[in-house]
Amino acid sequence: MTPRPVALLLPLALLAGCPAYDPMQRQPKYKSYQSSEFHADGLAMRTPPAGTVPYGSVGDPALQQGVGEDGKPLAQAPVPLNPKLLATGRKKFDIHCAVCHGMAGDGQSQVALNMSLRRPANLHLYRDVPDGYLFQVISKGFGLMPSYAGELTPEERWGVVGYVRALQLSQHASATQVPPETMQKLQGDTR
Ligand code: HEC
Repeated sequence: MTPRPVALLLPLALLAGCPAYDPMQRQPKYKSYQSSEFHADGLAMRTPPAGTVPYGSVGDPALQQGVGEDGKPLAQAPVPLNPKLLATGRKKFDIHCAVCHGMAGDGQSQVALNMSLRRPANLHLYRDVPDGYLFQVISKGFGLMPSYAGELTPEERWGVVGYVRALQLSQHASATQVPPETMQKLQGDTR
């Protein structure tokens, strides 16, 4: 009697699941500080070629890294904040930040309830930090918070910074900051 195909496939399927035979695990590669016969100096780890620059460091340092000429975080964003950028910032905040920091940025979210080790920050407590600092937190991450440089372009990150400022203002504004015509409307509404 000839063996049925499924009986032949079974041992193969079992082998594929076994790490010792997994070609992905057994591929030739070097780990940090291993020696190599490929290069004359016997080192596997290579010095970057002259003139190599770290990722994200090309271009205007203000725009890309949020720092001034003195290397310190910029007090104010280097891009003009207009309604379009603010709308982008709002959209990106709602997608990428609100899940942890809450829609109002107050650190109240379902995720926050379950992050017992380090709670996502209440962003209203960061009114006095420079714009450039917020930009850097978004770009590089902070503690348990990951970097959002892969998801957001520098321009979008500045938009998010602007929207965080708008959220902060929304919870910390005085009546004198309200334009007179808006105030009239507000007072009219309460009557
Ligand atoms: C996965 C959850 C998560 C997301 C998404 C997230 N954060 Fe955070 N964020 C945290 C946590 C947790 C901390 C506190 C980290 C710590 O103290 O280790 C934090 C801290 C911060 C801080 C305070 C940094 C400081 O100096 O204390 C700011 C500002 C901030 N986040 C802004 C943002 C913005 C803006 C976004 C969206 C681009 C964002 N976060 C997305 C979890 C998140």
